[in-house]
Amino acid sequence: MSGNIAIELGPARFRNPVFLASGPAGYGTEYEELIDLERIGGVVTKTITLEPRAGNPGRRLWETQGGLLNSVGLENVGAERFFKDKLPALEDKGIGVIVSLAAEGWDDYEGLLGAADDSSAAAVEINLSCPNVERGGMAVGTDPELVARYVELARKRLPDRAIIAKLTPNVTDIVSLARSAEKAGADAVTAINTVLGMDLEGEDSRPVFRRVSAGLSGPAILPVALDAVWRITRSVDLPVFGVGGISSVDDAIKFFAAGAFAIQIGTAVFYDHTLPERIVEAFEQRGLPARN
Ligand SMILES: Cc1cc2nc3c(=O)[nH]c(=O)nc-3n(C[C@H](O)[C@H](O)[C@H](O)COP(=O)(O)O)c2cc1C
Repeated sequence: MSGNIAIELGPARFRNPVFLASGPAGYGTEYEELIDLERIGGVVTKTITLEPRAGNPGRRLWETQGGLLNSVGLENVGAERFFKDKLPALEDKGIGVIVSLAAEGWDDYEGLLGAADDSSAAAVEINLSCPNVERGGMAVGTDPELVARYVELARKRLPDRAIIAKLTPNVTDIVSLARSAEKAGADAVTAINTVLGMDLEGEDSRPVFRRVSAGLSGPAILPVALDAVWRITRSVDLPVFGVGGISSVDDAIKFFAAGAFAIQIGTAVFYDHTLPERIVEAFEQRGLPARN
């Protein structure tokens, strides 16, 4: 045993740096029978908006070679139910939690931050990068000035919580987004959300999704995510949560070598729920991987 691999981010403390990424793991409780959530660093909960959202109609998931396209569209129970039922269900069991929030506009963002302020959440991840919604999401997250405005307001309204900005890779220069988040007072950034993609099907080659473009995740995007983590950590003085395509212990080690402070696992838990705990075990035995 190599001992303590706990991490700290502002006021938040986690058992280790291995998290379930926002989305695939829902509100965490869905995976309780499959993953020992008290063994891992924590769960980044499904992104919530101020009001409940039904998500996108029609097909939502589509497998590609080495990847998964999704067009879920931020289906969620809304802030009120989340903070009343979902968050306590995790916290009461001692499970580490990072609450993912997304604004659908400036006014509801104020309301959402107010709800987070009234809650016990120690860490929030602002999802500035969802590709599957009309308002907020990537429309905000691709503009460094808007990233700064959204992070600044979170910093102001939640002065004593850890604030993490989740960035989109669908830009020419993700480092400029990370710089904006840093200047605006974020405690960390998460890189990356899904990569824009599409697929076609049938004899007449029709788009598989109603919205045509969707978000690509899984092993196919690992090199994109690694590159983002490498470049951000060499330009910005913020801890980085690395996420994108992790499907083995070796993949996890690569993210630390590239400079990550912690990792998140998304798509892989759909087909290998043992992975998060195997990564924790490896780190407990060998210590956290060295940074390059
Ligand atoms: C089905 C699905 C739903 C997702 N929902 C969210 C979400 O609600 N909020 C968010 O920030 N990211 C969401 N993501 C993106 C993941 O958190 C992660 O950034 C991305 O999938 C890359 O990691 P992976 O390759 O390990 O899945 C979702 C991904 C998938 C596959």
